[in-house]
Amino acid sequence: MNILLLGGSGFVGSHLARRLSAAGHGVTIPTRRPVRARELSVNPMVNVVAADIHDDKQLARLMAGRDAVINLVGILRGDFQRVHVALPRRIALAARAAAVPRLLHMSALGAANDAPSHYLRSKAAGEAALRNVAEGAASGLAVTVFRPSVIFGDGDNFLNLFARLLRVAPVLPLACPDARFQPVWVEDVAAAFADSLCRSESHGRHYDLGGPHGYTLRQLVAYVGQVCGHPRPIIGLSPGLSYLQALLMECLPGGPMTRDNVASMKQDNLCPAGTVFPFGIAPTALEAVAPGYLGGVNRRQRLVSYCRRV
Ligand SMILES: NC(=O)c1ccc[n+]([C@@H]2O[C@H](COP(=O)([O-])OP(=O)(O)OC[C@H]3O[C@@H](n4cnc5c(N)ncnc54)[C@H](OP(=O)(O)O)[C@@H]3O)[C@@H](O)[C@H]2O)c1
Repeated sequence: MNILLLGGSGFVGSHLARRLSAAGHGVTIPTRRPVRARELSVNPMVNVVAADIHDDKQLARLMAGRDAVINLVGILRGDFQRVHVALPRRIALAARAAAVPRLLHMSALGAANDAPSHYLRSKAAGEAALRNVAEGAASGLAVTVFRPSVIFGDGDNFLNLFARLLRVAPVLPLACPDARFQPVWVEDVAAAFADSLCRSESHGRHYDLGGPHGYTLRQLVAYVGQVCGHPRPIIGLSPGLSYLQALLMECLPGGPMTRDNVASMKQDNLCPAGTVFPFGIAPTALEAVAPGYLGGVNRRQRLVSYCRRV
């Protein structure tokens, strides 16, 4: 297939690009900053291009002749309406106009109109915007939506963030320590996307994606401390102090947390009981993977290991 992978330069995207290219698909990844995607450019099946996907003309050019488009673009802070709602709608319209038959879209577990955070509400609105276009008369566009819990794996921004903090902090004041997650391995998420491309039973459906076990945030952070050899005391913050910590962090450029992230954690991030991982994929446990990448590998080592794999 000839696939357009939007958001392909990010954490999930780089794993998915490798999987798709290994399966023989050609992958084009538009990015605002090609230099940040240079690790992907070494793969001959991956074409990294500088583009502004918020520009309809550029988006239309990118869509031409594709067999599938995958949208992974997402943010944790900023203009959710533009990135999570308007963009998916424009992507679906552009795909329909270019007669692209297949669209896979990344949402998030817990996305709902009445969810506690802007992030989750905007993900729900983005799904609805996609569906409106795809379900329109004779759209010819088959859409599949994925809603993962927090995603872990080499290069993640979640466990690695705590690993970095635990290396330097003698004590960790932790917001929302009792929030629960069902971490899912990035390779399992990538496998679900790749498999769904050719599965007609996934057309028009959405899939919640979670790993085999649920954990509180405190359990996850304690586990990261053990794995990276920095087991620190964890001080769980009350809801009020969690909010205050997030407010202070919002003032830091690129601060690791926002009040909206705290709002997301007001509800458990677990798949509904009875959810089965799609397409016969058996999800991988955190403990089987995390020790392999939480040891502090630098960029150069990552590039070398990536080159070996492609
Ligand atoms: N990671 C998780 O735990 C998790 C859990 C649930 C759902 N998700 C969802 O999964 C998707 C991928 O997550 P990720 O962790 O891989 O994210 P990531 O590493 O932050 O990558 C985000 C990607 O989106 C693009 N992007 C960000 N803002 C953009 C904007 N304003 N305009 C155009 N492109 C923009 C970036 O492209 P540039 O190269 O142009 O910067 C990048 O390729 C997101 O939709 C996220 O909400 C992630």
